[in-house]
Amino acid sequence: QQKVGLVGWRGMVGSVLMQRMQEEQDFTHIEPTFFTTSQKGLPAPDFAGKDAGVLEDAFDIEALRQQDIIITCQGGDYTKDVYAKLRDAGWQGYWIDAASSLRMADDAIIVLDPVNGKEITEGIDKGVRTFVGGNCTVSLMLLALGGLFEQDLVEWASPMTYQAASGSGAKHMRELISQMGAIHSNVKDKIDDPATAILDIDQQVAEFIRSDDYPSTQFGVPLAGSLIPYIDSQLPSGQSREEWKAQAEANKILGISDAPVPIDGICVRVGAMRCHSQAITLKLKQDLPLQEIERILAEHNEWVKVIPNDRDDTMQSLTPATVTGTLSIPVGRIRKLTMGPEYISAFTVGDQLLWGAAEPLRRMLRIILS
Ligand code: HSE
Repeated sequence: QQKVGLVGWRGMVGSVLMQRMQEEQDFTHIEPTFFTTSQKGLPAPDFAGKDAGVLEDAFDIEALRQQDIIITCQGGDYTKDVYAKLRDAGWQGYWIDAASSLRMADDAIIVLDPVNGKEITEGIDKGVRTFVGGNCTVSLMLLALGGLFEQDLVEWASPMTYQAASGSGAKHMRELISQMGAIHSNVKDKIDDPATAILDIDQQVAEFIRSDDYPSTQFGVPLAGSLIPYIDSQLPSGQSREEWKAQAEANKILGISDAPVPIDGICVRVGAMRCHSQAITLKLKQDLPLQEIERILAEHNEWVKVIPNDRDDTMQSLTPATVTGTLSIPVGRIRKLTMGPEYISAFTVGDQLLWGAAEPLRRMLRIILS
């Protein structure tokens, strides 16, 4: 059995990865070693269903070098610190990473096997040893629209996102709930009294969310009762880094970076927990019948599900509340826009901790093991 080192398994993405690895019995196929940045020598967790000994030091290059495969969800700073040292020490194992630091490196492949499984297996044959999970919005968009991209039908795409709190981290998810609760607590008496005028309640909420009593240490500004139309750092292009990733990463995954499809839009944080949604405007290269477009989308992979552009179906099946905690990738609101027959809209939702982060990594592990 291959030796697999797991780093960052206790964090949010790491925990989701451990859950999925248990569900899919991945641990029965590997000899796991759990690494830690702070608790070396303590017993390893027992969820692997086998004795994994004690925790090893995640900065111990010698211990890392013993692994055939390393999967890390520890974050970009860890990768920047350890990866080069490990390769410089002659390690030739497989590095599977959730962080973005190595994503755009020439010798790394972004893993999303339902979309680029062929590139992944060819890469392994050619000696690629570094595999990195994609940005969550990019992976979720490509799973939803993979059929159109695969058949080279997309002239350009403009995703406008509705991104969940989980993309910022665990503390941010907690803060979103605190913000929701704080708003309710602040106006509870007035809500409970049906005679209170709604504009009085609204006024009080507006004052409260702008006040110092409203909890916003993590986000810096209100999310519950508001939204944040900027994600990640600011770039000279005017894009946020999150917006820049759409075109750069999607085209790298599709293997067409030499002649990239323009993909650009605005990324927005909203008060959802862990599902990212995206409203996408597409210009197709041809005027295709809607039924044909839906067929191409539905046939691309086993997780995408075309939702009829019907009010009830949409409200029931195309929301974060429905999708959260599942691997399902619904795509709906597919219709021709009034701009012309090649212009179509689509709306898609996906769990950013599952397909957006953990799932491509464990599937990459299984590809290496197969
Ligand atoms: N950058 C994403 C977000 C999550 O902030 O929602 C990680 O891919």
